[in-house]
Amino acid sequence: MAMVENNEFYVDVPCIDCTTRKFYSDYVGLVPDEVETHVKRVRDKAYKIYPYPCLGQYSFNEFSLAMLPDYLEVLQRVKDGDKILDLGCCLGQNIRKLVADGAPPENIVGTDLQQDFINFGYEMYGDQEKLKVSFTAGDIFNESFHQTLTGHFDIVFAGNFIHLFDYNDQKRVMRQIAKFIREKGGMILGQQLGSTKPKEIIWSGRGIYLHNQESFKQMWDEVNGKEWSLDASLYQLEWANSQTEFLRFVIRKL
Ligand SMILES: C[S@@+](CC[C@H](N)C(=O)[O-])C[C@H]1O[C@@H](n2cnc3c(N)ncnc32)[C@H](O)[C@@H]1O
Repeated sequence: MAMVENNEFYVDVPCIDCTTRKFYSDYVGLVPDEVETHVKRVRDKAYKIYPYPCLGQYSFNEFSLAMLPDYLEVLQRVKDGDKILDLGCCLGQNIRKLVADGAPPENIVGTDLQQDFINFGYEMYGDQEKLKVSFTAGDIFNESFHQTLTGHFDIVFAGNFIHLFDYNDQKRVMRQIAKFIREKGGMILGQQLGSTKPKEIIWSGRGIYLHNQESFKQMWDEVNGKEWSLDASLYQLEWANSQTEFLRFVIRKL
């Protein structure tokens, strides 16, 4: 427990905006008085598995996919039959948001390194019996895990994911994500920490590389060639009590 209390990103009291509060009421079926206690209880269990800042800060309560400019296109495409992969889905809030917005669950797959996060997602959103989305635990660096996913998807969402790795591992991840896409017209989108001046920082004892739009595009082009278009932009958000740079991106297979 000491690790939890000492971590710089750990916030004790849930900060839940009106939209998310309504989601916990409509989707999960919680009464207003239950929301904070429930969210904190499940969050604390997940945080003990691995202390990701998005868990410590309760930012998993933000629907990061729905906040991207291309969300309505993504939603419509999935409704029309496109298959989407949520890579590093953690508790799976973005998957529940898609389903709540009318996307067919059978067109959605969630993956994460930690089976525990998938299980805590069921507990957080109270839908183990009813959610028909397919979840699978596996490591993005494990080739046998790739076989089940390669060439199966029209859309890949990588939210707060690619930035978890150092420069060389990000290249491996980008190479693999491109292989998940089935055909031309496929798209890959996401958001993550960014930096006007690209740099490696140490987080949780390991190096993670932060991009600006040019360095992100350069890495993608270097790894995957020119048969993709890529738009990326930096933006600022108040996060963990300071103005923080994020990078959002959308990549399309030409
Ligand atoms: C920071 S969380 C992002 C969660 C979610 N996508 C979001 O935007 O809120 C990163 C997730 O990636 C998963 N992850 C980390 N390393 C991984 C790996 N090698 N393969 C697959 N998933 C991994 C973690 O378990 C964690 O749930």
